[in-house]
Amino acid sequence: MVLRQPIVAVMGHVDHGKTSILDAIRKTNVAKKEAGAITQHIGASEISLADIKQACSSTVGSRLPDFTIPGLLFIDTPGHESFTHLRERGGSIADIAVLVVDITQGFQPQTVESIKILKEFKTPFVVAANKLDLVSGWKSSGKCGIVEAIGLQREDVQTRVDEMLYGLVGKLHERGIESERFDRITDFTKQVAIIPVSATRREGLAELLLSVAGLSQKFLEKELKTEVGGIGKGSVLEVKEEKGLGTTMDVIIYEGTLKKNDTIFFGTINGSAKAKIRGVLKPKLKPKADGDKFEYVDKVHAAAGVKLYAPGLEAALPGSPIVVDDKNPKTDQLKEINDLIKGILSESESMGIIVKADTIGSIEAVRKLLTAQKVQVKRAGVGNVVKKDIVDASVVRATEPYLGVVLAFNVGVAEDANAEAAKKCVKLFSSDVIYSLCEDYAAWVEEQKKIASGAAIERLPSPAKLLVLPSCTFRESKPAIFGVQVAGGRLKKGIRLMDKKGKIIGQVREIQKDGKPVQEAKHNEELAISVEGAICGKTFIENDYLFTYITRKEADELLSSCSEELGEDGKAALEEILSITDKSLI
Ligand code: GTP
Ligand code: MG
Repeated sequence: MVLRQPIVAVMGHVDHGKTSILDAIRKTNVAKKEAGAITQHIGASEISLADIKQACSSTVGSRLPDFTIPGLLFIDTPGHESFTHLRERGGSIADIAVLVVDITQGFQPQTVESIKILKEFKTPFVVAANKLDLVSGWKSSGKCGIVEAIGLQREDVQTRVDEMLYGLVGKLHERGIESERFDRITDFTKQVAIIPVSATRREGLAELLLSVAGLSQKFLEKELKTEVGGIGKGSVLEVKEEKGLGTTMDVIIYEGTLKKNDTIFFGTINGSAKAKIRGVLKPKLKPKADGDKFEYVDKVHAAAGVKLYAPGLEAALPGSPIVVDDKNPKTDQLKEINDLIKGILSESESMGIIVKADTIGSIEAVRKLLTAQKVQVKRAGVGNVVKKDIVDASVVRATEPYLGVVLAFNVGVAEDANAEAAKKCVKLFSSDVIYSLCEDYAAWVEEQKKIASGAAIERLPSPAKLLVLPSCTFRESKPAIFGVQVAGGRLKKGIRLMDKKGKIIGQVREIQKDGKPVQEAKHNEELAISVEGAICGKTFIENDYLFTYITRKEADELLSSCSEELGEDGKAALEEILSITDKSLI
């Protein structure tokens, strides 16, 4: 058993400097060469222990602790909001993460999203508070450590830096995460370390590397133990066409060894498939020319990011696991992959919503979020929304109106599906941000429930308990007009009143407060009511209690769809009413 490198995902909002930090560590220039200066795919780069030592030599030097991890495998993830699934995938395979935050901008939407992903996968992380050099008045000090460099700044600059750092501490606290500047941390198991850095001025990088390496060494040793000669296992990041090679697969190998000519199993929409690897390519950190992006290797050990090419990779599902065929008839390697795909794409007999998404990884993420919201999924699939999805949702809608919907993440909608959705009134949610998709759905359900309960509360009789006030009878009958106090619930025009034995005495025609007609009255209010059919002194007397007449069916509907609107007071009145009507039936 040896320790493999931890896989370190670098995450955060667009342009906060993830690629620049990696560039500064690798001494490369990737960020500047990216299309639109935006990272659009996950890239892996290995930083060996020797590289870490060298990066630290000028600032931390001989104080470097003894590490047994062989280095760090960084994976860069895109921060742009539309790349949620890539961020999610990066987060899911990471052992540890660096959350990059532009110190001058603080938390932004994808910072928050990254934290949600890290919390979901329980990934430990540190925060790199980047662009320190943009804090007004900051003077780079050359070769000392970052804490010393902060100490050398003007006092007002130090205060500004501290204020910005505590801004981050506050934002993390709001999300239930305790944090502190890395050198002030007392307990690394309870507090997240914040390392102030500047990628462009190359400050704080040694401390960042040491924090990540130290945390991995200390807390992840068990997870990082791997058999060097063991069977290679990994995760598919992307499947894409590469000029001159055909379909290739970018993978992260997190366990064992993978060799050229190995047969691998991977997931497809129809279950597992296999292919014989023709080439294992490692991306070059510093390519000399355009066609010089990769170097061919015979084998790789975990952890590593490599590109594989082989005939038959076209159907591979991004996000699916891959495993090298161990040629042992006793082991069932396909089971894990088949189980995973079956689990994610499985259909449920019970009612639920329909999910369509671009990759198996994003379906997994949507499912996870929906499960957290206690929402059932009926069927999930990779690909565009088609007419059948809408038809299936409309069948669900007939019995479960809130579940008869389609959620589409990062996929298109076929024209006839759109038309069918309009025809069948099936709600279709479509977004390229996973969290908004699930939140939009939850908000819609809330709204629908409110509308339904609003309609129900209008239609159903309102539970009320009334006390007939003494010496306040204005007219004895046709209609009887007398004073009451609302002793519980809410009095509304139109309700039928019964006495305490459940006998109906008449219907409320008018309500008057201080001589003016009103539609309803609340608890404790005193008013005059006119009741058609009632006779004062005969069907009821002064000091009697009168109640709204409510059938059992109406009561059940009130309790199931208007519970919130009734409030405790209304529910108590309803309970008393039901005990009367139940008794009167005996
Ligand atoms: P995406 O991959 O698109 O999400 O962005 P990113 O987080 O990788 O950001 P990137 O490294 O591409 O940097 C974005 C911009 O910020 C670039 O113009 C960088 O030069 C600049 N930048 C990054 N780090 C620093 C820093 O420490 N100081 C200053 N002043 N600028 C920085
Ligand atoms: Mg980037």
